[in-house]
Parts: sequence; C-alpha cells; structure tokens
Amino acid sequence: MKIAVIGAGYVGATTSVIFAKNGHKVTVIDKDQEKIKQFNQSILPFYEEGVEELLKEFILDAKISFTSNLEESIEPCDLIFITVGTPSLENGEADLTYVEEVAREIGRLINDYKVIVTKSTVPIGTGDKLKGIILNELSKRKLEISFDLVSNPEFLREGKALHDALYPERVVIGTDSEKAQKIMEELYKEVDSKIIFTTVKNAEMIKYASNAFLATKISFINELARLCDQIGVNVNQVAKGMGMDSRIGPHFLQAGIGYGGSCFPKDIKALLTLAAENQNPMHILQAVSYVNQTQAEWFMEKVSQVFGTLSGRHIAILGLTFKPQTDDIREASSLKIIEFLLKNQASITAYDPKGAEHVKKLFPNINYASTPLDALKGADALLIVTEWNEIINIDWQSAINLVSQPFVFDGRNTLDPFKMLKLGYRYFGVGNTNFE
Ligand code: UDX
Ligand code: UDX
Repeated sequence: MKIAVIGAGYVGATTSVIFAKNGHKVTVIDKDQEKIKQFNQSILPFYEEGVEELLKEFILDAKISFTSNLEESIEPCDLIFITVGTPSLENGEADLTYVEEVAREIGRLINDYKVIVTKSTVPIGTGDKLKGIILNELSKRKLEISFDLVSNPEFLREGKALHDALYPERVVIGTDSEKAQKIMEELYKEVDSKIIFTTVKNAEMIKYASNAFLATKISFINELARLCDQIGVNVNQVAKGMGMDSRIGPHFLQAGIGYGGSCFPKDIKALLTLAAENQNPMHILQAVSYVNQTQAEWFMEKVSQVFGTLSGRHIAILGLTFKPQTDDIREASSLKIIEFLLKNQASITAYDPKGAEHVKKLFPNINYASTPLDALKGADALLIVTEWNEIINIDWQSAINLVSQPFVFDGRNTLDPFKMLKLGYRYFGVGNTNFE
C-alpha cells in the first residue's frame, strides 16, 4: 500500500520505518524543512535506537521518502497517518491546532477515497471533529469524496519504539467502516491476532486510559515510598512482593523521582481537563498528578536535610533525560532538580550521554561533564537521575576517590545499596533509606 505519514517525530518516524519494512511505500511529510533535510541525508534528528540504521536501508531501497510538500505526496496514497504533536495548552487541554490544521489540509487536497488515521494522542471526540473539518473543506470545494476516519493510537515507548512497533502487544483500531477495517487489517496482517476493533471514541479512550493507569501505578509506588522511607520499610522489596501477584504485575512499580516525557504528563492533564469539562472530576488521577509534581522536590528535600543546607555544595547530576535510551528531556525530573539546586545556591556539574545539549539550552550556566567520572570530581553529593547503563556501571570503587564526600542519592533505586555501603558510600534511595 502507499502510505503518507504526516509528522516526523519519534512516533511518525518509527511507525514509517516499520511500514516500509513490511513492504509498503511510505512518504513522510513534515513542515519542518530542516528536519526533512536531515532525514533525506539519512540522519535521524533525534535519538531512537535502531531507527537510523533501518532508515538508511529503506531510503536506499526507495521504500521511504521525506518531503515538506503535502500536496504532492498525499494524492497517490491509500492511507494518511496523522502523527503530529498534541502538546498541552496552558489550561491542560491537548492543543489540537496541528492535528486540525492537518485535517483541513487533507480536506483541501484529497481527490479520491482515503483512509485517514489519527495516531497522535487526541481527546475523546477528536475523530468526529476531524471528520467534520474534512467534510467542511470538501463541501467548500463542492466535492463529495468519501473517506474514513480511523483511530489507531500509538503505544510506543521512547527508547524502545522500534521494538514496540515491531512486536506490539495490541493494535487498537477504532472505526465504524467495514471498508476501512479491511484496509487496516491488511496493513497490520503481520500482527493480526493482536488487533482489537472498536469505535473511534473507544480507541481514543483506550490510549488515555492506558497511560493514565501506568502513571497511577508509578505515583502509587512513589507515594508509598515516601511512607516507607519514614517507617523503615524497603519499597523495592514491597514492589517485588506485590508484583509477583499476577493481578498486580511487576511492571511500572519502580519507585523514583517521578515520571516525565512527552506523553504521561500531557495525557494525564488532558484527561483531567476532559473529565472536569464533563463535570466528572477524576480524583484518583488528580492525586496521581499531584504526587508526580511533588516527587522530585520531596527527594531534594531529603538531600537538603542530610546536608542542612545546600548552599555552596557541589552536586553531580548523573542523567538528564526523562528516561534512558533517548535524548528527550521533555518534562524530565532533572529540570526540576536543577531548578531546586540553583534556588538553594548549590553548584552543579551534570552528565548525560544524549540529553546534555538540550539541557544546555535551558541552563547554559551550570557545568557539563563529558564523562560520568568527570562529573563526580569534587562532588559533595551525586544524584542518580536517569538510569543509563554507563551510569549504573560506573567503577564505583575508583570513583570514591574522585568525590569530595561519598554521598549517593539514587533517584531511580538503581544501584545495589549494600555494595555501595561496602565501598564506603553513604547511600540514600527512594523509599529504601535504612541501610546504615
Ligand atoms: C507523538 C504524537 O503525535 C503525540 O500525540 C503522542 O502523544 C506522542 O507521540 P512525537 O512523535 O513526540 O508525538 O511528536 P513531535 O516530536 O512533537 O513531532 C511531531 C512532528 O510533527 C514534528 O516534527 C513537527 O515538525 C511535525 N508537524 C507538526 C508537522 O509536520 N505539521 C504540523 O502542522 C505540526
Ligand atoms: C509512555 C508509554 O509507556 C507508551 O506506551 C506511550 O505510548 C507513550 O508514553 P514513554 O513516555 O516513552 O512511554 O516512557 P515509559 O517507559 O512509559 O516511562 C515514562 C516515565 O515513567 C519515565 O520518566 C520513567 O522513568 C517513569 N517510570 C516508568 C517510573 O518512574 N517507574 C516505572 O516503574 C516505570
């Protein structure tokens, strides 16, 4: 099939690569010409493991191409995917400007039947809205062209997007059209046993509900960790014991300094706003959001308490991205931590293998190290903020000679506390402080 994918972010790019891999001819369209230029030189403008290699291969084989010209590219396509961003507005609602503009463009340009698929995360009811926008444009052109609007939300984790796109646990397809259903079935025939067909609105809700539930698990364990810290309980052991119950499951129970990224914070805000607009406030989700907003600060208060004051202390921050294997710093806890430290007059040296350049634009006046060991030199405390392998696997035995004081604050509960104590460090985790 011929497929147009509008929006070359990590979702659009990764999805396109998988469609090309499955034998389809894909055109990726992005209004950002600089980005398109990079793609055309086989350069991925962001870091997502494995995607660039496949991109090179498929560009050479002419299975995938990149352009900013929507007009020329969508006409020959059977399917048009919308994967532009849906960031948060000031009031928490999802900003649908880009998605709506793309729908208008589609309405202005199509001349025969198309399946139009939203993959961007959009509030419930957006599918109907986009259908209306396209119909309106077609009626301005006095054309009666049939099309179907399908919702096919993405569930790709950054850093593992390629894996998730290749081996999805489920493919949710919302449509009320048999014709569109058949085309989508054909598109996903490699994973047909994983497909759930439902209505457009149900599909839109499945996406929000899934992210909201995962965020709930994280905030639950983080809030519990605060209590564990106070009363001498190890939250890691608690999570392990809970997770062995298959009704609970072991995933997303890793206590830490909160969730970040381009999805959880914005999707939770959008669902809360939708609920409030419908006079149906979601109290659990409000608490999930509150716990997350305060989790990094709670952790930093712990650091402050140990030192009495942070003024004049030199702090090493290890990891800046919102999670490992990505260069994405959107809503990363590191940003809150840097702000907290600056407010408390501490000095900072930060290290991250992929995200430092992005953070530098926001905080040009802190120090950046080019290796984890460089970051530790002379530090009064080191904070583990992102659990990159090269940070976990630091030679801790040698590293103790570099620091000024051996305080380790493990914001991701990722190091072995007993090993660290044996090496002479003072170790503080999240909900597992009582080792001394
Ligand atoms: C995606 C989804 O779109 C979002 O809804 C979902 O929740 C997470 O994944 P992401 O891939 O992170 O977002 O998007 P982003 O990195 O913001 O990229 C979107 C691309 O769309 C950008 O390259 C931007 O230039 C492009 N774009 C945006 C257009 O081509 N046209 C527009 O009108 C707006
Ligand atoms: C998420 C969803 O997992 C994915 O399905 C969706 O489509 C996009 O949003 P992503 O944001 O890439 O993916 O990352 P994810 O692995 O879900 O982690 C999100 C945040 O939660 C990270 O900051 C991570 O550090 C944090 N997290 C995750 C925890 O603090 N504890 C956990 O147990 C799991």
